[in-house]
Amino acid sequence: MSEIRVRPIRHLRGEITLPGDKSISHRAIMLASLARGRTLVSGISKGEDVLKTVSAFQSMGIEIKGAGSDSLTIQGKGLRGLSQPGEIIDCGNSGTTIRLLSGILAAQDFSSTITGDESLRTRPMDRVVEPLERMGAKIEGRFAPLKIEGKRLKAISYRTPVPSAQVKSAILLAGLYAQGKTEVTEPARSRDHTERMLKYLEADIEVRDLTVSIAGGKELVAKPISIPGDISSASFFMVGAILLSGSHVKLSGVGLNPARTGVIDILKRMGAEIEIENLREKNNEPLGDVVVRGSRLKGITIGGEIIPRVIDELPILALAATKAEGKTTIKGARELRVKETDRIRALATNLSRMGAKVEEKEDGLVIQGPTELKGKKLDSFTDHRMAMALVIAGLMAQGETVVSDTDCIKTSFPEFEKTLEKLKVAG
Ligand code: S3P
Repeated sequence: MSEIRVRPIRHLRGEITLPGDKSISHRAIMLASLARGRTLVSGISKGEDVLKTVSAFQSMGIEIKGAGSDSLTIQGKGLRGLSQPGEIIDCGNSGTTIRLLSGILAAQDFSSTITGDESLRTRPMDRVVEPLERMGAKIEGRFAPLKIEGKRLKAISYRTPVPSAQVKSAILLAGLYAQGKTEVTEPARSRDHTERMLKYLEADIEVRDLTVSIAGGKELVAKPISIPGDISSASFFMVGAILLSGSHVKLSGVGLNPARTGVIDILKRMGAEIEIENLREKNNEPLGDVVVRGSRLKGITIGGEIIPRVIDELPILALAATKAEGKTTIKGARELRVKETDRIRALATNLSRMGAKVEEKEDGLVIQGPTELKGKKLDSFTDHRMAMALVIAGLMAQGETVVSDTDCIKTSFPEFEKTLEKLKVAG
């Protein structure tokens, strides 16, 4: 079990390009496998989670070349082109793989079993099983492993109880196969990469306010897909650069889908100097360069509709809050308790160990800043985003910080340490 030792540094400076967005990478593999024809996917994430999606489709007879490199070639066989996997599909740590795949598997004319690692097996799957069963699916299990017997599905209209792109996407993917028009309505907008990519590949899909509808039976058209840089991975360097005065960092080619840019909006509201340059669009996803400078922050309240737009960045924002002047309240973020670990508990434990003033709430955190942080032995709870947030915390703590169990970083961002080294200016 590896650990990362961190010493304080002075600034972060330089320009980097982020590896491909994890959420979009999963969707590219899935939709290219279901499309008719060959797809070249460039800039794909090399994270373990995404590799789990690649092997899942390979095990269902899809030819995917280039796994582990920046580009994949996927030979899609159409909606009905998957074949029964010879063994149990292992989704590892990846919630996106298991939940989105459930929607596809529910509609196949074969049975399959999907599972994951220890963390994934504790995460709630009833949120996808329940709507899929309403469509006629037959699924055994409310936690992984899930045993799925493929069925002919019928369209439904469904209101998701919590905003979740994974749940919405599972229903839309099942809807690709269902008879009739499937509709999903969310209480607040979650990331819409599935909808954007389905539209790009010519699915019969429509978005009206918080409702998405898709007509079943229409084949997808294979087209090249270029994946923008991952804003969630970029957020660690954004916050690092903002908190270390005198820093100046350019993050090039970052995905700027409005359903993902909550972190930029919040940091700006806290007083951060952030500029967007060269805003452009590729295969229906916006991207641009993000320029960040060391800034003084003030505490704010983070809650309501912005939460799904910033859900994966709340750990690194909690670090920013320890350095902001005044009180920061994060509320309405109960979903953090069912991520790769209970992120509310993990943040309260680790940040208070470093000397921050953190109060744990049922649905969030209250953080009083600014505080000096002290280097300590910290626990990632085998959660990649926790591990990376704590490494960034170590860059500004007194003395040495040791983050345990850092292997998990590979699930989303195997290049993290190397990328950080490029930007470090020693103290
Ligand atoms: C994701 C959706 C979010 C997010 C996760 C990736 C996706 O999860 O936290 O890291 O790719 O659809 P929920 O749908 O559970 O909110």
